[in-house]
Amino acid sequence: MNLQMVDLVGQYKTIKTEIDEAIHRVLDSGHFILGKEVKDFEVEVAAYLGLKHAIGCASGTDALQVAMMALGIGPDDEVITTPFTFVATAETIALLGAKPVYVDIDPKTYNIDPTRIEKAITKKTKAIIPVHLYGQACDMDPILEISQKHDLAIIEDNAQAIGGEYKGRKLGGLGKLGCISFFPSKNLGAYGDAGMVVTNDSNLAEKVRMIIVHGSRVKYKHEILGVNSRLDTLQSAILRVKLRYLDQWIKARREAASRYNRLFLGKDVTTPFEASYGKHVFHQYTIRLKNRDGVEKHLSEKKIPHAVYYPIPLHLQQAFFDSRTKEGSFAVSEQASREVLSLPMHTELTEEQQAYIVNTVIETVRQ
Ligand SMILES: Cc1ncc(COP(=O)(O)O)c(C=O)c1O
Repeated sequence: MNLQMVDLVGQYKTIKTEIDEAIHRVLDSGHFILGKEVKDFEVEVAAYLGLKHAIGCASGTDALQVAMMALGIGPDDEVITTPFTFVATAETIALLGAKPVYVDIDPKTYNIDPTRIEKAITKKTKAIIPVHLYGQACDMDPILEISQKHDLAIIEDNAQAIGGEYKGRKLGGLGKLGCISFFPSKNLGAYGDAGMVVTNDSNLAEKVRMIIVHGSRVKYKHEILGVNSRLDTLQSAILRVKLRYLDQWIKARREAASRYNRLFLGKDVTTPFEASYGKHVFHQYTIRLKNRDGVEKHLSEKKIPHAVYYPIPLHLQQAFFDSRTKEGSFAVSEQASREVLSLPMHTELTEEQQAYIVNTVIETVRQ
C-alpha cells in the first residue's frame, strides 16, 4: 500500500488545471515580486479570517519574527510560550535577543496550560505566544484575560491551525497579531515557503508592511530596521487557488480524524482530545502510546509513514543552552514528547488505508 504522511501530489492532481493556470498567469505577467497576486491573496485571507489586515511574508518563521519586531520586542524582554512546539516559536524570540520563558502544557490538548501562565510573568514579560498545536485552539479566554490584566501582547502562532476556531471565532484574529505558515504540508500549503501576519491593528499592520521590505514605505527610504521577507508572487497565485478549497479540505481532514477515532475505539490508544470550545482542523492526527517507540519501529518495518512532533521539548534543546532548564522542569511536555505519534493525515486518505494503519498500530500495542 502506497502511504504518505501528506499526499501533495495527489492533492495537486485534483486542482491541476487551476494551479497550472495560476502559475502561467504569473509567468506570462513577468511580475515576480509582490504586485496584484500578493495583494489579492492578502485581501482574500483577511476576508476568510474576518480581519482587517493580512500581510504576506516569506515563511511562518519570519511571520513570528516580524510580528515581534513590530511590537518592539528585543534584548532584555521575555516572551512566554510553550516548550512543546516547533523550534521556530522560541528561536525567533531568542534571535531578537529576548528570552523564551516556557510554560508547561495541558496534557490533553498539548497546548499551553493557561492556569500556569501567571506564575511565569515578570516585569520583563512583553508578550505571550500561544501555539495552536496540531490544528487545535488553545483555551484563549483565560489567556486573553491574563494578557489584559498584565498588559501583554498576544501573538498567536497559528502556523498549524488556519481555519480552526475558538468559540466560533477563527484562530489568528484573537490576539494582537496572528502568524500563519504556508509550508507545503500545512493545511493551506504553498509549493515552497510562505507565511503571513494577520491583525486588526492598523498601526501594527503598517509596521509589519514596512519591516518585510527593509523598513521602508517608499523605495530607498528606510525609516526603521527591517528584513527582506516578501511573500513570493508565484506562491500567492498558487495559494489563492488553494484557499478556495480550504474549508472543503478541513472537512475531509475532520472526516478522516473521525474514521481514525472510530477504528481505534476500544483499543489501548489515546486518540486526540477535541476541546468542546473549538473546531480542530487536524493538521496532525496525533495519538498517544505508552510504548510509542515500539509502535514506531513496527510502523517503519511495515513502511507506514509516521512522525513525532516533537521528540525533544525546546527547554532541552542544545540551541537554547543558555536558557536551558533541567530535565523535569516541564514534565507534561517531556512526557508528551515520549508518547505522541502522528499518523498519516491528508485530504486524500482512504478508509482502507486508515484501517491498515490502525490495524498495524494495534498489532504492536497488544504485544
Ligand atoms: C508551530 C509552528 N510555528 C512556526 C512554524 C514555522 O513556519 P515555517 O516553516 O513556515 O517557517 C511552524 C512550521 O512548521 C510551526 O509548526
